[in-house]
Amino acid sequence: MTDSAMHPFAATLLRWYDAHGRDLPWRDTSDPYAIWLSEVILQQTRIEQGRPYWERFMQRFPTVHDLAAASEDEVLRLWQGLGYYSRARNLHAAARQVAQMGEFPSTLDGIKALKGVGDYTAAAIASMAFGIPAAVVDGNVYRVLARHYGIVTPINTSKGKREFTLLAQELLPPTHAAAFNQAMMDFGATWCTPKSPRCTLCPLAGSCQSLHNGTVEKLPVKLKKLQVKTRKFHYVYVRCKGYAALHRRPAGDIWQGLWEPLLVEGDTERLMQAVTSMGGTLIPLRNGVKHVLTHRIIMADFYRLDCDTRPALPADYRWIPEHELDRYAIPRLVERLMALVER
Ligand code: ADE
Repeated sequence: MTDSAMHPFAATLLRWYDAHGRDLPWRDTSDPYAIWLSEVILQQTRIEQGRPYWERFMQRFPTVHDLAAASEDEVLRLWQGLGYYSRARNLHAAARQVAQMGEFPSTLDGIKALKGVGDYTAAAIASMAFGIPAAVVDGNVYRVLARHYGIVTPINTSKGKREFTLLAQELLPPTHAAAFNQAMMDFGATWCTPKSPRCTLCPLAGSCQSLHNGTVEKLPVKLKKLQVKTRKFHYVYVRCKGYAALHRRPAGDIWQGLWEPLLVEGDTERLMQAVTSMGGTLIPLRNGVKHVLTHRIIMADFYRLDCDTRPALPADYRWIPEHELDRYAIPRLVERLMALVER
């Protein structure tokens, strides 16, 4: 495609990308698995933080078949620290889907049928691995388009999603789908940033509506969500003669499949009811630890309970030698408790 057949916005953006695009390891490949992995890792994670995870995953599981053959525990262990563990579980389940099929699907609908793969990830894989002209729409793309075209439709509504997707699709040059999508994301991440965008150096400044109107900092518009609820957690690290009691979190709640010590949720009275019958000495380690999730805030108190004999615990708890605890995938919040327990 010549520059003249391309939308001027796309032509300018691609020139910018040539000069300023980031050099990222998953951009040197057309392996859909490597690209998929990078996109899943980067969904809620900054590139600097995500990159070492991508490298470790690629090293440990060089192909989708290696990932499919792994245990869920190992996958979660390697994922530990990235948060949003359902992403890791979906990734693993989808790897098994692909292994069953024999090879990675190479159409947009085929890719979308994989577990946990939504419109964004499907468009990213389809364009970058197979050159399919599907526009990605992530937070960066919303911001760039809202500002450049002065669009005030809230981005977290179905109307907004439709409007921005249509526009991105219209701008995308079909023969340069991969570069255009990468360019939109890089431009949003490094130039058209949420705070202090580099408008004075911007190659698109001349046609930018919000710069013209003085509304750059107000866009994109996002509707306020309902207030997040707070949950109160009491974590008790129950220890007996070099063993600690852990259980695996069940389905239907946050952190499914990760391990944790005794958890009592609710007020202090419930904690007391739970531990008085267990004997031992309850030692407070820290109060009021705040942990923020997307839809919840957790306020946690940490304790240690030292016992001479193993107290009765619910059936799903296991006694694990303390020197083996680091083989278990645990949530970030529990890492903070573990750091307070001297072993
Ligand atoms: N964030 C998520 N995926 C990305 C990509 N492919 N390029 C730049 N930023 C990203």
